[in-house]
Amino acid sequence: MAFLSDTLSRVKPSPTIAVTTKAKELKAAGRDVIGLGAGEPDFDTPDNIKQAGIRAIEEGQTKYTAVDGTPELKQAIAAKFARENGLDYAQSQITVGSGGKQVIYNAFMATLNPGDEVIIPAPYWVSYPDMVLLAGGEPVIVEAGIDTGFKLTADALEAAITPRTKWFLFNSPSNPTGAAYSAEELKALTDVLMRHPNVWVLSDDMYEHLVFDNFVFATPAQVEPGLKDRTLTMNGVSKAYAMTGWRIGYAGGPEQLIKAMGKVQSQSTSNPCSISQAAAVEALNGTQEFIRPNQALFKRRRDLVVAGLNACPGIDCPVPEGAFYVYPSVAGCIGKTSAQGAEIADDEAFATALLEEEGVAVVFGAAFGLSPHFRVSYATSDEALEEACKRIKRFCERLT
Ligand SMILES: Cc1ncc(COP(=O)(O)O)c(C=O)c1O
Repeated sequence: MAFLSDTLSRVKPSPTIAVTTKAKELKAAGRDVIGLGAGEPDFDTPDNIKQAGIRAIEEGQTKYTAVDGTPELKQAIAAKFARENGLDYAQSQITVGSGGKQVIYNAFMATLNPGDEVIIPAPYWVSYPDMVLLAGGEPVIVEAGIDTGFKLTADALEAAITPRTKWFLFNSPSNPTGAAYSAEELKALTDVLMRHPNVWVLSDDMYEHLVFDNFVFATPAQVEPGLKDRTLTMNGVSKAYAMTGWRIGYAGGPEQLIKAMGKVQSQSTSNPCSISQAAAVEALNGTQEFIRPNQALFKRRRDLVVAGLNACPGIDCPVPEGAFYVYPSVAGCIGKTSAQGAEIADDEAFATALLEEEGVAVVFGAAFGLSPHFRVSYATSDEALEEACKRIKRFCERLT
């Protein structure tokens, strides 16, 4: 009898975490490595939020809470959805988990039966297909390539829907491309979904507040109210409030689904950290003043990186609307040989040689389901980004 489960053999460890770990190991061994793999803001949680966490400890908010979130946090989330997205959710339609990741996982665990399909546009956040597999479903990957700005077309969505489709997983702004759908672009997709009443929508809005150039964020249940009864609108405090370590994610959706997700959580982790929940109340209810300066900071870095990468022979880097990633194509580098003799057969070989020869850690595109590309996280200092671009340029110039 095998010790490990068959289900586990269907999934792989997170490649983004693997790259970050490799870069840290090389650094610890004394190598000069610039890590562009991490998916988190490089600055601290704002002070008012930290203080709310400290107060929660001092006031003794150190006990179990309601499994899927305190009433105070659910109220703050309901107010956020109403204020920022024009969506009305009752407290019974809101769930809170230990990060957005747990919320998505709960949704799949609560709803997927063997053979149920989940449509995932590629490139995708690395965890989506594996979470579907862990929950016993079938990921259906649909390409949304560089020629459509990494956005899924209505025709491609329509063609992917089958009688087994349970969910359409939507992520805007996107990890790994930074592409974000305008309300108009999104409407083309929601029109398709309106014709398929059995398909549910999971909208991962994690990067909502990281948009640039006056881009206006939109989410499916807002663009098409007719979908609200079969949409799970997921979000969290990790990226917008620099709170990745606090582990708070949340979602609004139909009560039946929310209850089912709470049941999964009640038998796995129970409530998210009580102190983090108190801090998240402050994040959502408190001042939002730092969001705009952060947007300006990330926009400046985006522009720096896009210009730097487009100066590299063989690289083509589109300008994304949001998040803190770019997803350049390395089609012009494939088939070449590096200065130290590595054959650049694919994007994984490109990323490996770049790390070995120039000490720049990026995540190769195959990990996100679309090659030949790599992902750069520009959530790091201007100096590190400038130096990284210089090294990538040297690496590309030496390819023969
Ligand atoms: C698209 C996307 N969704 C969800 C998450 C999960 O966020 P959390 O850290 O809150 O679990 C991430 C984190 O990288 C992400 O990039």
